[in-house]
Amino acid sequence: MDSAPPPRELLEIAIDVARGAADTAYRMRVEGVSVAATKSTATDVVTAADRAVERQITDALRRLRPADAVLGEEYGAAERGTEAPARVRWIVDPIDGTVNYLYGLPHCAVSIAVEVDGEVVAGVVRNIHTGDEWTATLGGGAWRDGQRLRCSTETDLGQALVITGFGYDAGRRAHQARVVAELIPQVRDIRRLGAAAVDLCVVAEGRADAYYEKGLAVWDRAAGGLVAAEAGLLIGGLKGLAPGPDMVIAAPPALFGPLHDRLAELDAAGGP
Ligand code: IPD
Ligand code: CA
Repeated sequence: MDSAPPPRELLEIAIDVARGAADTAYRMRVEGVSVAATKSTATDVVTAADRAVERQITDALRRLRPADAVLGEEYGAAERGTEAPARVRWIVDPIDGTVNYLYGLPHCAVSIAVEVDGEVVAGVVRNIHTGDEWTATLGGGAWRDGQRLRCSTETDLGQALVITGFGYDAGRRAHQARVVAELIPQVRDIRRLGAAAVDLCVVAEGRADAYYEKGLAVWDRAAGGLVAAEAGLLIGGLKGLAPGPDMVIAAPPALFGPLHDRLAELDAAGGP
């Protein structure tokens, strides 16, 4: 079995690769992007940049770490240089917030996380437009521009600014909209910014109090989830479940219980 370098070393690789990838995404945005294909629904789009950026990331990781596994949003599991089981797996969203990217809205990012033995140990989220870069290593804190990140200390759900997001399937969106309609009178306000990885980082730095969403894929949440957890947020699903496709809640310790209970009552993990 291959060896696994320390998280800090893996993070340095992730940062380097993410910066090159974000540069490519930005250049392609400036040159003009259009929809290359649709995926789960007519509004679940993929641009040429999503594909080119994922290829660039995968090729770079292959060069630097040929024995590692790579999972990307657009191409799935990339071929490896060896058949031996990999302890290290990279989880890549080449562009999180693709719809924002398509419209030129500056809330989209390259997200790269790295797992060792199934646990995320490092991650970077880099905003394609602004260059904002959030990083974390397991046990090493969450950081942006040399500043250690701390989440909100809000304790009252009624005062909480809560970020959420919606899936691409119309039936799922209808259910999610019903949940939000019930929740919004009970919190300060709701934000839908459009890129889960960045949303989690925004919550990590206390620019919103909490986040929840049903339907996230692992590449949407792997890096941002570590940044959020290392900034002090509790991350979980509903009813004691781990965060996953059914539900991801990221909230400061005092808010997690009240937000969780409200979402459970509203059957936020239910529906299609
Ligand atoms: C989407 C964004 C969005 C979230 C969706 C994700 P994509 O990822 O993160 O904010 O609400 O659930 O699918 O498609 O832009 O990579
Ligand atoms: Ca994506």
